[in-house]
Amino acid sequence: MPDKNNLWKVNTNKFDNEKESIMRNGNLYQISNGYMGYRGTLDEFGRDELVGITVAGIFDKVGDEWREPVNAPNGGYTIIKVDGKKISALETDIVKHEQTLDITNATFERKTVFKEGSKKINISSKRFLSIDKPNLGAIEYSFSTDKDAKIVVETGIDYNIWDLSGKHLVNEKASKKGNVLLYDSVTNELKKQVCVAELTDFKGLKEEHVIKSNYNLRKFSINAEAGKTYKLTKNFAVFKDGDTPGNLIDAAVKTVEEAKSAGFSGCLKVHDELWKKRWEQCDVIIEGDDEAQLALRYSIFQLLIVAPVKGSANSIPARALSGQVYKGAIFWDTEMFMFPFFVYTYPEVAVELLRYRIQTLDGARRKAKTEGPGFRGAYYAWESQESGDDACTYFNIGDPHTGRLLRTHFRDKQVHISGDIAIAMWEYFKLTGDDSLLLEGGAEVILECARFYYSYAYFKKDKNRYEILDVIGPDEYHERVNNNAFTNKVAKVTFEIALEVVNYFKEKHPDALKKLLEKIDIAHEIPQFEEAYKLLYVPQPDPETKVIEQFDTYYKLEEVSVEEVKKRTVHPNEYLGAGQGVAVPTKVIKQADVIMMLNLFKDRFPVDIKKANWEYYEPRTEHGSSLSACAYALVAADVGKIDWAYKYFLKTARLDIEAKYKVYVGTIFMGGSHPAANGGAWMAAIFGFGGVKANKEKVTINPRLYSKWKKLSFNLSFKQDSFAVNIDKKKVVVVANKNNADSRAFSVANKELSCKPGETIEIKY
Ligand code: BGC
Repeated sequence: MPDKNNLWKVNTNKFDNEKESIMRNGNLYQISNGYMGYRGTLDEFGRDELVGITVAGIFDKVGDEWREPVNAPNGGYTIIKVDGKKISALETDIVKHEQTLDITNATFERKTVFKEGSKKINISSKRFLSIDKPNLGAIEYSFSTDKDAKIVVETGIDYNIWDLSGKHLVNEKASKKGNVLLYDSVTNELKKQVCVAELTDFKGLKEEHVIKSNYNLRKFSINAEAGKTYKLTKNFAVFKDGDTPGNLIDAAVKTVEEAKSAGFSGCLKVHDELWKKRWEQCDVIIEGDDEAQLALRYSIFQLLIVAPVKGSANSIPARALSGQVYKGAIFWDTEMFMFPFFVYTYPEVAVELLRYRIQTLDGARRKAKTEGPGFRGAYYAWESQESGDDACTYFNIGDPHTGRLLRTHFRDKQVHISGDIAIAMWEYFKLTGDDSLLLEGGAEVILECARFYYSYAYFKKDKNRYEILDVIGPDEYHERVNNNAFTNKVAKVTFEIALEVVNYFKEKHPDALKKLLEKIDIAHEIPQFEEAYKLLYVPQPDPETKVIEQFDTYYKLEEVSVEEVKKRTVHPNEYLGAGQGVAVPTKVIKQADVIMMLNLFKDRFPVDIKKANWEYYEPRTEHGSSLSACAYALVAADVGKIDWAYKYFLKTARLDIEAKYKVYVGTIFMGGSHPAANGGAWMAAIFGFGGVKANKEKVTINPRLYSKWKKLSFNLSFKQDSFAVNIDKKKVVVVANKNNADSRAFSVANKELSCKPGETIEIKY
């Protein structure tokens, strides 16, 4: 149970030097500022302890290995030697250790007392990555001994970089310019420049410059007095191609020099103020349940630390910036699981996420052309990096028994990705009322996605309907299936949205429409979208059981429990799908699929259908993906199964803070954080227990709080206006910000209201 008085911190007073726990703590204690992530490792750690500074939006490939994000050198490296002996948590006896992640402002702190011979040595440090200056990291490091000692401090840039698939930074040069340590390099493939500058302020002390074994260091030798605390501050700056129009090295030098002038506390103050604003906007308060409170807050924190920098048009990888894991790729996770949090609380970030898809539209067009016979339009990458070309390989998972790669069809058959993006694009417009993104390229994305589905769909003459054949739905254990309910519904809604966009533009932006239709030569295809929208088949509930068959022939598969399927595995990391996977011939599914559809389109299905499907699919779901639990929580809340909703809510909210997730699938290392599950936790709290759902017209709130929760408070952004919502067991109070632009429509506990700027409405339920 978390400490009641501290629901803003994650901490431990143990140090476990097992590799596995260093790896998990690296994720758990990571800090990030959207530009780069810094794993929660100790100052003296290196590559073997998975120190990683993962930079957003820059990727590299070595030979035939996977393209993955670039890790920058560690400008935060510091180690001390006492009487010639290195002091490190890995080697030295530890008397006491405490490390803390402060969620209020994304700072990481460690305090360790070591024992070396007869001497006790205290080391403390605190670090953050500035959200004011995203290229900047700042560290305050101090030490003391209980007896006089000769201490050598080595601090600087460690460029022994932890890379998963090949060495990404080449032509490396280490140097010192004035007082600033420098590292310069280019990426292996595209020769993009990446550089780091480091500046230490250790007042009045003389230093020696040393370059050795891929460390660019400054060395201070001190005759330390017993009991005296020595403190240094370090700033480092990472710059990559495109960050600034000028010289990158100059920019990096300037950044650390300015930070030195502002001082650690000066920089921290600005950073803190910005974090304070973020939390004012995005925090959710749960009264009466500390465990849920901390887990949800940590989940929100995980989303905030990876919110892309304004103007970057970056998106959020499936393992955030916790390393190069999963190729740093962007999946449907972003639009379906993270985007809702941002569009409802922090729309400035939601825009960046969608801009990324506009910028990678050409990659999606290339994929459509190359992936199959006659595909047209936008077939978005299953695993997307900076160009939008697909990073997913055809043989994407290794068999742990033989080491052989298994053919998987995630890349070529998981076609729902395009519709997921089109849906988010339209949702952004509906909820914010801002059509600038549609004009900027969002409308083009939507039309190209519709075009893709039209080219993929198959018209079955005898049934007079379109079908979507040979796909993978969200449940990846069943590949190459026909008429997956989720996929068909997403495609149908994509046609619907495409038609709505055309109608909206006809009315509001006729010139832009004309230009767009000409640009992509699509006017003659609009009637086809209309026809496909009408005639596209979506599997329907069985009239008796009300269950929707996940795909054609799903019912013919073997009926067997999840436990039994797991018993059939012979290796703990075995993948249950692909080829001969043990789940393949069975009804056991990897993750929410029909349930995901019922959640995504919750307004279009009645409660009895949702309930019947939840009860049917829940026991058949293995939850082999971290995306699954939240969908079960959301639909459970929708059908009044509040205890189940809570169970699945906690599963998704606790995933990263508990850090017990699986880290291998087949032979692939997947150990990193799970922003989709974090977004799922927010959705489960707000949409599930809060019963919030907005559409173009209004915000609906129909609460169903979990029994333990006394109060749920949060902020919402709707049509670019903001509202504070407080829900307790008896009433809902909505407070409209006084600066809101207009009255907004609400439906609270089935009462229709309008909320003027500055107004408070209170409804009993
Ligand atoms: C899931 C996908 C998900 C991916 C990245 C897979 O295990 O099945 O739905 O997009 O992980 O999180």
